[in-house]
Amino acid sequence: MRVAIGSDHAGFDQKERLKAHLVEKGFDVVDMGTNSGVESVDYPDYAEKVARSVAAGQAERGVLVCGTGIGMAMAANKVDGVRAANVTDPEFAALAREHNDANVVAVSGRFVPVGVNQEILDIFLGTEFGGDRHAGRVAKIDGIEHKD
Ligand code: RB5
Repeated sequence: MRVAIGSDHAGFDQKERLKAHLVEKGFDVVDMGTNSGVESVDYPDYAEKVARSVAAGQAERGVLVCGTGIGMAMAANKVDGVRAANVTDPEFAALAREHNDANVVAVSGRFVPVGVNQEILDIFLGTEFGGDRHAGRVAKIDGIEHKD
């Protein structure tokens, strides 16, 4: 599975460690930056790159890391076809896939230990969408994008 990953400066250290973890697990990882934890950058720039790559089908899933994961999820969700979930707990990673068919996960590089984020990614990337009663609800989420 191809996974696009991106971070801002606050998420850089964990992005590097999470990337190595995913490569070790056999994922095809595309790193979309940033490339430093020192130079301050704007998280929406990296959220947009990863989200557009998922929306275009160039990557099946996206992983975003910033201080909290909140801004990354907000920005990624502006791209049509992207369902980004800010996940800080492994159980929520499973539910974001099973119930919401999330295709991008945004994690916190500052408030959640890297070991927990590794577990979150393992679950997120290894869990199928439940479909069934959830499918219509997810279709309604996508429908909101096309109402205006
Ligand atoms: C950067 O200081 C911080 O605002 C950013 O990493 C993120 O937490 C935003 O949601």
